[in-house]
Amino acid sequence: MIRICAASPDDIEAAQSAASRYGFTWIESKAQYPYLEFGAQTRYHIDKRTALIVDFTSGANAHRKKYGGKELITKAVAAIKGERPSILDATAGMGRDAYVLAHHGCPVTLIERHPVVYLLLSNGIQRAQEQGDPVALRMTLLGQDSNAHLRSTAANYDVIYLDPMFPAKQKSAAVKKDMQAFHSLVGEDSDNDALLELALNQAKKRVVVKRPDYAPPLNQRQASFQYSGKKIRYDVYLCS
Ligand SMILES: C[S@@+](CC[C@H](N)C(=O)[O-])C[C@H]1O[C@@H](n2cnc3c(N)ncnc32)[C@H](O)[C@@H]1O
Repeated sequence: MIRICAASPDDIEAAQSAASRYGFTWIESKAQYPYLEFGAQTRYHIDKRTALIVDFTSGANAHRKKYGGKELITKAVAAIKGERPSILDATAGMGRDAYVLAHHGCPVTLIERHPVVYLLLSNGIQRAQEQGDPVALRMTLLGQDSNAHLRSTAANYDVIYLDPMFPAKQKSAAVKKDMQAFHSLVGEDSDNDALLELALNQAKKRVVVKRPDYAPPLNQRQASFQYSGKKIRYDVYLCS
């Protein structure tokens, strides 16, 4: 059950419409956690101190934008040497990877199916676009299931990027509270293998899958090659 309330009286109509669209429970008082506070800065409050919000201007997002020029992800999608491939990020989440790719000049379409994550991301992109952030202007968000999207649409993307939820290796104190909350909100994605096969049929140039270093490749399918970092790797499947 997801609880929702409006951040201010001006947000009540839009918040109630989101509640009825997604079947959320409307609350007047913010006494019980967790809940989604819908408004100018939409947040998912986990407890008194922790909330999920998409903010591309601060924290890790801003750091990656400033210092992330040589990230493996840009090599994996081949956004190098002046190339700016069009990208479908079919597992958008909080939009962090998509923002890095858009920062490198790639037009990125994002798809997110979890309604709370979609509303957080939609709000974050909209705020950044309203502030005139040129990176966010290269981002287009769809709220649906990527499996359904790829089945029903003739996709026209150079690269399809997948970063599905994966089971945590072990519960660790090092996993930040907001990441734990994100995991308990979204759960695991059990349909990734099918998503990989659909993506391979639709991508014009390549499919890139982000995996933890300990995880097997999606659908046990061997990648064309990999880029490995400290804890994660990118499995690259060439399509053409
Ligand atoms: C690990 S998170 C992605 C994190 C993201 N790369 C980032 O940088 O913030 C995975 C997200 O993909 C979404 N997802 C998984 N399978 C999906 C599908 N078939 N269609 C749409 N969204 C999907 C989940 O709801 C979850 O929010």
